[in-house]
Formats: sequence, C-alpha cells, structure tokens
Amino acid sequence: KIVVIDLGSAHNQLLTRTIRELGMYSELHVHTTTAEQIQAMNAAGVILSGGTLDVIEKYELTVDPNIFKLDIPVLAISSGVKEVIEQFGGAVQKRNVLDAQEEIQVPASTLYEQQATLTVHFAEQYEITNLPTGFERLAGDDVIANDEAQVYSVQYHPELSASEGGKELLKRFIYDICKATDEWTMKYFVDMEVERIRNTVGDKNVLCALSGGVDSSVVAALVHKAIGKQLTCIFVDHGLLRKGEADSVVETFQGKFNMNFIKVDAKDRFLGKLKGVTDPEQKRKIIGNEFIYVFDDEAAKLEGIDYLAQGTIYADVIESGTATSETIKSHHNVGGLPEDMEFELIEPLTALFKDEVRKLGLELGLPEEIVWRQPFPGPGLGIRVLGEVTEEKLKIVRESDWILREEIAKAGLDRDIWQYFTVLPNIRSVGKRDEKRTYDHAIGIRAVHSVDGMTSDWARIPWDLLEKISTRITDEVEHVNRVVYDITAKPPGTIEWE
Ligand code: XMP
Repeated sequence: KIVVIDLGSAHNQLLTRTIRELGMYSELHVHTTTAEQIQAMNAAGVILSGGTLDVIEKYELTVDPNIFKLDIPVLAISSGVKEVIEQFGGAVQKRNVLDAQEEIQVPASTLYEQQATLTVHFAEQYEITNLPTGFERLAGDDVIANDEAQVYSVQYHPELSASEGGKELLKRFIYDICKATDEWTMKYFVDMEVERIRNTVGDKNVLCALSGGVDSSVVAALVHKAIGKQLTCIFVDHGLLRKGEADSVVETFQGKFNMNFIKVDAKDRFLGKLKGVTDPEQKRKIIGNEFIYVFDDEAAKLEGIDYLAQGTIYADVIESGTATSETIKSHHNVGGLPEDMEFELIEPLTALFKDEVRKLGLELGLPEEIVWRQPFPGPGLGIRVLGEVTEEKLKIVRESDWILREEIAKAGLDRDIWQYFTVLPNIRSVGKRDEKRTYDHAIGIRAVHSVDGMTSDWARIPWDLLEKISTRITDEVEHVNRVVYDITAKPPGTIEWE
C-alpha cells in the first residue's frame, strides 16, 4: 500500500483517492506518524503531501526523519520538498506564490518514461538554495531525484487534473519505483477488514448503534459479515425519522440480514420530552441526550459486550482534527456511553471516503435506499418542525417530504442534489379551497448543492417540477395551503432551518 502523509495539502484527499483509482490501496495519515508505524503498516511507498510552505511553517509540520531511513521510496509533493531537502542537509526558501500552471521540461528518467514538456499546476514554488548530495535536478528546482535513496520531489501537484502527466507520474512511482502490490478493490477491502475484525474480536461480542444512516448501516453490515451473531444492533426509533425509514431499517437488518437486532420504539418518550419546548438549541439537546439515555438503557440490559462498532468515516477523522484542518465540527456518532460500561471501539471505515462507503454498502448487499440516503441530521424532523414538535406537525413534514422525494426521484435528480427536504416554519396564512377561506400551514422546500455541508448553494429545481411538487403538497397534505421555496445560500443561511 501507499501511505500518504498529510503535510497540509488541500488536495490530499484527492491524492489518496486518485491512488486508489489507479488501483492501489492507499491511506492518508497525520504528519506525526512515525517511521515505525509506517513500517508496521507494510507501506510500499510514502508520499509527503505538502501544500503551501506557510501551512508547514505555521503548524510546524515535520515528519519523522527516520522515514527516510526505512528503505521505502518517498515522493514529496509541493512544499514537501522542504522536508526532503532539510532532512538531507540542504536548504530551501520560498520563491513564488503561484496557484497557476507552468510548463516544465522533464527528461526520460526514473520518474518519467520519456522526455516531455508538461503543463503542470503549482500551488507555490520554492528555490532550493542548497541541493544535498545524491540529488539531481530533473526540471530545475521543480523536480529533483535521488535514485539511490529512492527519494523524489515534485513541486507541482500531480494529483490535479490540471497537471499533465500527473497520473502517469503517480503510476510510475507506485508500480515501478515502489513496486506496490496491495490492489484496491472493494472485495479486497472487505476480505481484509473481515479478517481484521475477526482477529480483534475473537469470541467476544460487539454492539452497534444503528441510526439508519449510511455509515452506521454499512459498519453494521460489515461487522455482521465478519462475526454474525456476535454482533447486536440497537436501533432507536425516536419517531423523528422520515416516512418509510424505520421500516426499511427493520426490513434490512432484522429481515434480510437476520441480525441480533433490537428496535426501541421511543417515539412517545421523545415527544413527551419535547412537549412545550420551542427553542431550537434546547430541542437539539433534548433529542441528543434522550438518544443516549435510551441507547444506554438498552445496552445496559445486555451482558458480555466488549466492543462498540462505530461508523466513523474518513471525513470525521479529518474534521475532528489532523493538524491542518482548521474548520472543525465535533462528531458524535454514538454520543455518550454509560459511565460504568467500558467498550473498546471498532471503527473499520476510517480509511474510506463517503462514496467508497456507499460502494462498500452495495457490495455488502444493503438496499439502495439506505446506501444513497441523503445526509440527515441526528435530531431528524425534530428540527424541521420549527417551534414545538407535535405529532400533527410531524405528519405534515413527513407527508410533504415524501412527495418532494418522490418527485425529485421521478425527475432523476435524486443523486444530483445533495440534500432536499421540507420544513414546517410554523406560520399560518390565509388561503382558499373549494370557495372557502382557509387558515393553514405553509411548507418550505429546501434543496441545496454542497460538497461537505459547510457551505452550500440552493439547487435550481426546474420550475415545472416545483409546480408539480407544490400542487401535490397542497392537494395531498392536509392543513397545508401554501408552499414556499428557500433560495438562501449557506452562508448566510444554514442548510437546516433550526
Ligand atoms: P447546517 O444546518 O448546519 O447543516 O447548515 C449542515 C449539515 O449538517 C446536517 N446537520 C446535522 N447532522 N446532527 C447531524 O448529524 C445534527 O445535529 C445536525 N444538524 C445539521 C445538515 O442536515 C446538513 O447536512
């Protein structure tokens, strides 16, 4: 496998993915990863994925110098050149801030099959003021090589499609220089993880909190494949799910997979706690806490559980803190656990990106409606009914949301739009139906494009489609006489209304 070390590149996820797309197993790790750990990972090659020198300097990102003594080929990208040069006793200084393409001339060499002129993308460029012995310049300071030590550095970003020959370079590094052999396929991943889970767990038991979301569903299916009945899943139905979701979870895990499956019907408990509460933050807190209490109550009834399986995926790992990710949300996949209960964690998805998790889900036989589920907030419809949550209002959101989803799917837009849902803003307005005055609820449609949920733009759903949705909602959902469309980006709005 190829280990990518995060030295602050904005593109290191893309780099890791690109390597996987080239058929090679690849993992991204923090810069503090030691040479010993890299060796234990059985890495065939290491890529130092740098971005700008500012980031390296600001966060004092350096790598373990022993990495260069492992006898494992190293490729440094962008500001990674600083690490290479300095570890070998040379020096660099910042030369240019570019973020632009430039032409370079490269000779036939270990890195390039033949002599070529390539247009490639630089984030920045550095001047090598003192080139250590053993290195040669292949394209000025932009590409240097030390064949004997098998250490290379390209200052451009080969992982970007704006860099000509970038994939060929990576391929050459992976296959010719590193001679890496762990091929990357979902089947390989499943076999590897199944074995790893079996070895870790032995004859012990594992618990998993299923939310019905993609990540927890996939982790449950994977762990189940590894250890079958040694896994118990708890599914807390808080009554705030969308139409059909709870049923689909039950059908899949209890029905199709025949798992040890506990469904807790906690709707009344949640609605009881939410009665009279209108403040959004308080609602979130109540739902979050109640979820933990319910889960804990159920978990406490079980005996002999040693492990807890969590669907932490790669994005969660990065967001909750490698040195370089500055924008951080805290992630609670399960929340708290009973104080007197000690579990060890199993997190088999930490190396995967969201679309890979989906592929894995399909490979494991999960239905498309679970695998392709849109992002859904933990507090569920509880924060899509603005103000006090009541059963009547939940029904309105659920039914209107169902119509929206149906029409979006019929129009073939369900995988194009990142998230789409309806909200009940708790506003009544005057309308007219069958020649009679009505005074009923307005429903808001929210549909956004986003990459990571941090920012978003509103989706331009075709007007004809909006018209159809609006008509169906007012015709079919009781107590709705008006439909509005949210055309706010994030920022200044958020995706959810509460
Ligand atoms: P906002 O509303 O903050 O949402 O723009 C960004 C993304 O996060 C989802 N979201 C949540 N997810 N628990 C979650 O697991 C929450 O409390 C929560 N609140 C918002 C939201 O649906 C969107 O995808």
